[in-house]
Amino acid sequence: MNPSNGTFRKRGVDYPVPEEMFTLPGEYYHSEDIYQQELEKIFYRRWQLACREEQISRPGDFIVVPVGNESIIVSRTKRDEIKAHFNVCRHRGTRICMEERGHFENGVIQCPYHAWQYDLDGALKGAPLMRDVSGFKKEDHSLYPVNVRLWGGFVFINLSENPAPFEDEMGALFERFEAWRLPELRIAHHLPYRLKCNWKLILQNYQECYHCPGVHPLLADWTPFQNAVHDCMEGAVIGGYMELTTEGGSMTMDGLAAAPPVCDVSGDDLQRVYYYSVYPNLLLSPHPDFVLYHLIRPVNVGEITNDCYFLLHPEVMNDAKKMERFQSAIEFWDMTNRQDWAVCEQMQLGTSSIRFTGGRYAPQEDMLYALDKELLKALAEKK
Ligand code: FES
Ligand SMILES: [Fe+2]
Repeated sequence: MNPSNGTFRKRGVDYPVPEEMFTLPGEYYHSEDIYQQELEKIFYRRWQLACREEQISRPGDFIVVPVGNESIIVSRTKRDEIKAHFNVCRHRGTRICMEERGHFENGVIQCPYHAWQYDLDGALKGAPLMRDVSGFKKEDHSLYPVNVRLWGGFVFINLSENPAPFEDEMGALFERFEAWRLPELRIAHHLPYRLKCNWKLILQNYQECYHCPGVHPLLADWTPFQNAVHDCMEGAVIGGYMELTTEGGSMTMDGLAAAPPVCDVSGDDLQRVYYYSVYPNLLLSPHPDFVLYHLIRPVNVGEITNDCYFLLHPEVMNDAKKMERFQSAIEFWDMTNRQDWAVCEQMQLGTSSIRFTGGRYAPQEDMLYALDKELLKALAEKK
């Protein structure tokens, strides 16, 4: 860093010092080298969302979770525990499961190549013709384990061999949304999207409503952007809420609630929509009447999958009339999501310009500046 002229030098280029609330230069959304560093130092090192517990509800159920270039099998064991392992055979390294999800019959994970068999805890149980191989021990060849922690019905994983304590990164979430009784909620609807933009642009888009009046006229009517409050920035959790202008309102096509209040939600929470980002891949939005979340997964430096889920209490889901009304929330968020995706994809295109060396954040974008600082800190960590 060169404080005398307000710049720091990286790869032979002078960048503005972020304390002046400049944005990142364009290469942070396009450089293969920076993207690989992000995988190594963020996605292979931090706690991140894998799935909901209900997506692997029976012993033997599994879901395969892509994490950058890695693939992780998350499954439920016979003891009803959730375990995760690298999707890599210990014989010659073959990827074992090619399906996105399924069920391991008889609790056996079998490699398709030479039929080595593992149990749901990852222990090697069968290795044909290996018995007499000198020094070979099955117990030395279990599937590589991945750390798992559960919160709110969500399954989080961490690929590191020495993960930071889950509480340090996620603790700010733990008591905040108790009224919603998140573990009891179930997926009522799923909107899958695939976008042509860098993963960071979606997190940035989520943390500012400077764009709301122009991009989301309806959202800005129900929750004016001046009503945004930032109330949390601890560990990997950044968040705040927006005040609903209509009593008994919510984010729907007509601005009225889509369902009864969730579980124990009451008081101020009936007039708020929370927007929490849990770095790096979960965007969590408890509404008075439902919970919305996005699961972000980078596919490559300029492409992501973005899965949007709606959670409701099963009592609401079992009522056809209530679910008919709930369509208004799905319609509203699908429209609003697509408005966001369009500007994020346009930003991906524009930031690749040879002329774009960075811009200037507005005061309403201070959270983005904080996110950028966290990113630079993470990239500066040693391997
Ligand atoms: S590579 Fe899996 S059994 Fe041979
Ligand atoms: Fe938006």
